[in-house]
Amino acid sequence: MKTKIIDAKNLNNTELSIQLKEAVSSLMSGDVVCFPTETVYGLGAIWNNPDAVSKIFKIKGRPQDNPLIVHVDSIEEMKKYFSFWDDVADALVKSFTPGPFTLIMEKNKEVVSLVTAGLNTIGIRIPANKIAQEIIKQLGTGVAAPSANISGRPSPTNAIDAYDDLNGKVEYIIDGGDSMVGLESTIVSWDQNELKLLRPGAITAEDIERVLKENSIDLELIILSNETLEGEVKPLAPGMKYRHYAPKAKVHIIRGESIEKKLKFLETVSNKGDKDAYFISEELYSKLQETNNINPSDEFIIFSNENLVEDASHYLFSAFRDFDRKGATDIWAEELEDSELGRAYMNRLTKAADN
Ligand code: TXA
Ligand code: MG
Repeated sequence: MKTKIIDAKNLNNTELSIQLKEAVSSLMSGDVVCFPTETVYGLGAIWNNPDAVSKIFKIKGRPQDNPLIVHVDSIEEMKKYFSFWDDVADALVKSFTPGPFTLIMEKNKEVVSLVTAGLNTIGIRIPANKIAQEIIKQLGTGVAAPSANISGRPSPTNAIDAYDDLNGKVEYIIDGGDSMVGLESTIVSWDQNELKLLRPGAITAEDIERVLKENSIDLELIILSNETLEGEVKPLAPGMKYRHYAPKAKVHIIRGESIEKKLKFLETVSNKGDKDAYFISEELYSKLQETNNINPSDEFIIFSNENLVEDASHYLFSAFRDFDRKGATDIWAEELEDSELGRAYMNRLTKAADN
């Protein structure tokens, strides 16, 4: 199969609508299309066609017991997939969608699809990305989509990275430029008893707690730690048991509560790789240069200190892929504070390093 990249960047509404028609027809006929969202690129299929959905699992090499998120374009549409709707769901969804937020709740009995992998719950989200919204609108129903990587690889955050994994496997990749966030959506599950943060993302635990409070909802958000997520088995979050996000190179975390400690950490590492690559802040980079502890063959991707956590999150997955292309054997990535968006960054980094 020849893979065509459709350029959908910088178009007005009319142009975009025309530009997407071919890919939407392909979705309609049961094929799989790679498309951009504000989090990462998705590998989409019409949610209620079993042949179409099974193609996603096949292309990704994804185990059949790992459910998919369905993408819809309105709260009214979202409600149709669930067996109930209450003040908690309402407050969260009204506050965080469209946006990088996925809600998992008990599914409506009439919702029958491979996407749930046999669970009685379903995950739904309303992407904020204009291209994703237009695709859903033209299709007229939900788009089932996991991240567009081959299973185990970092999620693609631009069309080139998606092409690397999907060339020859899908007919269309829609190029919408860099994904704004760069990390997958926040996933929360709600069973009318416990509210759990299953995957941290750009909607932070702190954001969720604030919204609960503002809506006078007296409920504790249970934040599963990286360790808990890792060991989790069915039925809570089956996806969490699969390894994620790993580049080919070995990932190491540069630990330390301060730049000085991080520098010390690097100094004490005697057995660096054959080809080292660094994913670090401007500040650590400039300090590292002073130490003469750099090899000419070392690779660097540097994120700004100004928007530290946003930039690090935005570039993490694409940095992994760039370093792989450059043949890095070892990636040294800077630890950041494990709160707010930093919790999502550290979650992905920890998983990538744990191999
Ligand atoms: O940002 C995102 O969420 C991206 C874009 C494309 O929307 N999608 C994404 O999908 O990251 P995926 O499949 O790569 O990750 C979804 C995770 C998986 O770990 C899956 O196991 C979990 O969500 N999940 C989906 N439905 C679930 C359910 N009903 N119960 C528990 N976990 C579920
Ligand atoms: Mg994924």
